[in-house]
Amino acid sequence: MTLRLAGKVAVVTGAGSVGPGWGNGRATAVLFAREGASVAIVDQDIESARNTAELVEREGGRCATFEADVTCPASVAALIEACLGAFGRIDILHNNVGGSVPGGPEEMSLEAFRGQLDLNLTSVFLTSKAVLPVMQRQRGGVILTVGSIGGLRHLGHDHIGYSASKAALVQFTRQIAVRYGPMGIRCNTIIPGMIDTPLLEHRVSKQKGRADLATLRTEAQRRVPLGRRGDAWDVAHAALYLASDEAKYVTGTELLVDGGFAARGA
Ligand SMILES: NC(=O)c1ccc[n+]([C@@H]2O[C@H](COP(=O)([O-])OP(=O)(O)OC[C@H]3O[C@@H](n4cnc5c(N)ncnc54)[C@H](O)[C@@H]3O)[C@@H](O)[C@H]2O)c1
Repeated sequence: MTLRLAGKVAVVTGAGSVGPGWGNGRATAVLFAREGASVAIVDQDIESARNTAELVEREGGRCATFEADVTCPASVAALIEACLGAFGRIDILHNNVGGSVPGGPEEMSLEAFRGQLDLNLTSVFLTSKAVLPVMQRQRGGVILTVGSIGGLRHLGHDHIGYSASKAALVQFTRQIAVRYGPMGIRCNTIIPGMIDTPLLEHRVSKQKGRADLATLRTEAQRRVPLGRRGDAWDVAHAALYLASDEAKYVTGTELLVDGGFAARGA
């Protein structure tokens, strides 16, 4: 059986994890490697990136780790050069870095708001800007970006910087898809809903002021048609499909991985 990403080189940003276990980026990096890709495991936390690399190497996969801050132009430029040095090409860019801080427009500081735009949106601008010339030279490539259901609807708590930046990614993606489609470059957004990852435990539950995972899981049972939170592998499999040639006619669109949450409406 042919591996679905055989011979491809994939860059996965935020491929570590904020805590022990499977984050979206870590699961995606491991799955891409299982399917034959050489994976650039990128994180600002190099120890966490190395933990992901160990998981890949234990399964016989091919990877290298890179320390980079994807909000920093110089760091991103150096990263893409280093990836090319290590692997010679880049076929897939998977923009996974992102995160939320709580607050509405009155209580959130300007600094925090700008920080959210930097982390969730400008980071994707920077990596795309650096990788597009490479993909054009190669006459093809795939750019995937991880959005959020929070960019489509209000989730019951304010996080205005996160919502606005994740919403912007949808149109950012479409812009690239239209301009670069003729050059064989596809670009799509993956939109996770309520996903059970280490991020949930370490960040989201604290933000909501009720560090109670059980409550969040019960909430998902009530609000999500499939009756539970998803996991990092649900997001990773969506990424695998979009990264693979099976999605060769799919560009400029969004794939929701949300158990039907958005379809429910309320
Ligand atoms: N877990 C959910 O419920 C959920 C829901 C919707 C969307 N998402 C999205 O999924 C993505 C993250 O998923 P995850 O599970 O991998 O998260 P995670 O927080 O576990 O991992 C993200 C990794 O990114 C790294 N990172 C943070 N800032 C960075 C920077 N500036 N440069 C380089 N690396 C940086 C962190 O060190 C961490 O290892 C985000 O885009 C998030 O918005 C998550």
